[in-house]
Amino acid sequence: MSNVVIVGAQWGDEGKGKVVDLFTSWADVVVRYQGGANAGHTLVVGGVKTVLHLVPSGILHPGKRCYIGNGVVVDPEALCEEIDLLKGKNLMQDPAQLVVSENAHVILPYHKRIDAGREARSGAAKIGTTGRGIGPAYEDKVARRGIRMRDLLQPKVLRDKLTARLDEANAQIASLGGEKVELEAVLSRALELGEKIAAHVGDCSERLAHEIERGRAVLFEGAQGTLLDIDHGTYPYVTSSNTVAGNAAVGAGVGPTVIHSVVGISKAYTTRVGNGPLPTELTDALGERLRTVGAEFGATTGRPRRCGWLDALVLKYAARVNGMNGLVLTKLDVLTGLDEVKIAVSYKLPNGKTVTSFPSDPEQLGEAQPVYETLPGWKEPLGDLREWSELPASTRRYVERVEQLVGVEVIAVSVGAERQQTIVRKNPFRHG
Ligand code: IMP
Repeated sequence: MSNVVIVGAQWGDEGKGKVVDLFTSWADVVVRYQGGANAGHTLVVGGVKTVLHLVPSGILHPGKRCYIGNGVVVDPEALCEEIDLLKGKNLMQDPAQLVVSENAHVILPYHKRIDAGREARSGAAKIGTTGRGIGPAYEDKVARRGIRMRDLLQPKVLRDKLTARLDEANAQIASLGGEKVELEAVLSRALELGEKIAAHVGDCSERLAHEIERGRAVLFEGAQGTLLDIDHGTYPYVTSSNTVAGNAAVGAGVGPTVIHSVVGISKAYTTRVGNGPLPTELTDALGERLRTVGAEFGATTGRPRRCGWLDALVLKYAARVNGMNGLVLTKLDVLTGLDEVKIAVSYKLPNGKTVTSFPSDPEQLGEAQPVYETLPGWKEPLGDLREWSELPASTRRYVERVEQLVGVEVIAVSVGAERQQTIVRKNPFRHG
């Protein structure tokens, strides 16, 4: 067996939760390595919907171990809520099922206030963050003034660190017109939450090393998507972590040599929440149709997602920066009923040039006009199909054209929200 990274190949919300859930049946261990409660996975198992923001969705499989790595920024309020929810549904009886790295940084109320204050001040230039305090928490980490999970278990250490941090944080909140936080209130709540989470806090890196030594298959679960990566995304309209596959090693505390395979997840079309360029965006009735049929509203914020055609330039770029050797296309069923389907194959830039690879210049990207290839659509509902050969010929042709354009094999397609509504062509855990 092997170790596999799953990454979003677009701007997040590609349906990774469902794919992770499916791939978990082949894995022993699931690890999150970046992001925080800005992510949101909606999982439908046996008609029951569960939304998780922080805990890996692998937790819904009995017997699997889940880890939240050092690279994640953990909101202890959100984590406690999810732990309570899972315990309430009898999905987590043993605390060992979920381990949170003691080195993971923590999101506290001042991070959220700074995030909200900044967005409110930024007007049209705002990023459109999820408001979960993600950016300010990562800033504190890099500025070496962050609070980590381990600190929540040590009252004296936490008091000292918060005392040192709050003056400046409060000055910043005040300058943004927000309400200051109070040391004793933040401290006592953080300690209370720390106590509740304590049974789950541990050395993820060491435990993962043991799991890997024992030959257990590990699934590294990326959050958000490649185009939201702090280095490789559509900066500054990005999240504050590295979402690409390379960060799986750093954010989990393992070496890159343990990773065998990288699977990118893409919708059969494109969506984005928040601001920033989206070359294939459809602002017409067709975009509205994709939003309605695909239920394209954010799992974390409920915001309507911007929708458009699939963009082969985006996927080729994602294939490159992640080293993708497999692709999963989700929500293929949403395209049913259209007379024709389109894929962007190049962009026309304002300088008259046509490019076939994703431009790194955000100015160019903002004004790029997609050039489409049009393929025949299909009318048949796909939700009950379980075999590749059962798919309508034009659906297969669409998928095969994506494979050709991106240069990566499509190893599975998803035809509905339920776990079993998936057609798997290749198991990424079998390698060699
Ligand atoms: P932040 O991560 O809350 O700072 O938000 C930064 C950008 O990333 C915004 O455009 C968000 O909408 C986007 N974003 C963050 N998390 C997700 C996600 O899970 N899915 C889609 N977009 C996300």
